[in-house]
Amino acid sequence: MRIFDLKRVVAVLCCVPIAAFAADGEAIMLKGAANPTALPCITCHGADGKGTPSAGFPRLAGHPAEYLAKQLRDFKAGTRQNPIMQPIATALTDEEIDEVARAYSARPRVNVTPSKARLVEGTGAWLAMRGAWSRNIPECILCHGPDGVGVGGVFPPIAGQSAMYLESQLRAWKGVAASTGKTGKVKAVAPTRRNDPNGLMQHIARDLTDAEIKLVSEYFESLGESSEPFNESQHRLR
Ligand code: HEC
Ligand code: HEC
Repeated sequence: MRIFDLKRVVAVLCCVPIAAFAADGEAIMLKGAANPTALPCITCHGADGKGTPSAGFPRLAGHPAEYLAKQLRDFKAGTRQNPIMQPIATALTDEEIDEVARAYSARPRVNVTPSKARLVEGTGAWLAMRGAWSRNIPECILCHGPDGVGVGGVFPPIAGQSAMYLESQLRAWKGVAASTGKTGKVKAVAPTRRNDPNGLMQHIARDLTDAEIKLVSEYFESLGESSEPFNESQHRLR
């Protein structure tokens, strides 16, 4: 064997153990991470990453990697509290977080149905597209993009997520009202999601009524998974 070949063989052999331990996003989805507390993501987020809408488990497929990785780090840091996801995120290494986020972002994004809703004040479509500026509530599409398709790595897609999931997040930012046992008094419970830059979502969620939270969540759910291929030009601001 020439010395040149020997060098190559040594180089290849050296890389084998590294490759075996390197985080692999697809493998984490299917089989879980090195730490078994991080269960296979497909158990809850679905084989295709589209989530389990009936259980309120969100879609991850096609979301920006930057957004997904941030959420996993926020669960880990406790600025986003959830009894299911916090132990899972905590069990992931930094490298595993980046790899699994990248793998989900490479999946097809939601094929949003262009909205054909008539704009009638007080409906979910109105809130989404016009907001309620008399109460300082901007329209959702201002940040989440036309029809809620998402913008860049910071503003996630909200179209096509289940209404159950969207509502749960708006309530997590708002904080819920809970009865305090015998006295029957209602007291506000602190928000469990406090991870939004500049409190952008916290301000909005706080000012939405419970009825508005329901309406706007149902509206964005209704725009999910069109049978047409995703076409950015169909989703213009109006
Ligand atoms: C036992 C069920 C379960 C498993 C397993 C699970 N998740 Fe989750 N995941 C959830 C739930 C429930 C939520 C919503 C949490 C909340 O309300 O804040 C969630 C939310 C998320 C979010 C936030 C999504 C968003 O739109 O903000 C990310 C990212 C995520 N999970 C990634 C993962 C990854 C990666 C794995 C695998 C390592 C995984 N999950 C495994 C149940 C699960
Ligand atoms: C000023 C910009 C802005 C506006 C307007 C806005 N959002 Fe958001 N929203 C954000 C940002 C930023 C995030 C991501 C926060 C994070 O990093 O966790 C977000 C996240 C969300 C999420 C969580 C998505 C997920 O996958 O967990 C929901 C639900 C949501 N917004 C709903 C709404 C609704 C409904 C409206 C309109 C009433 C709205 N947003 C208006 C900036 C905005």
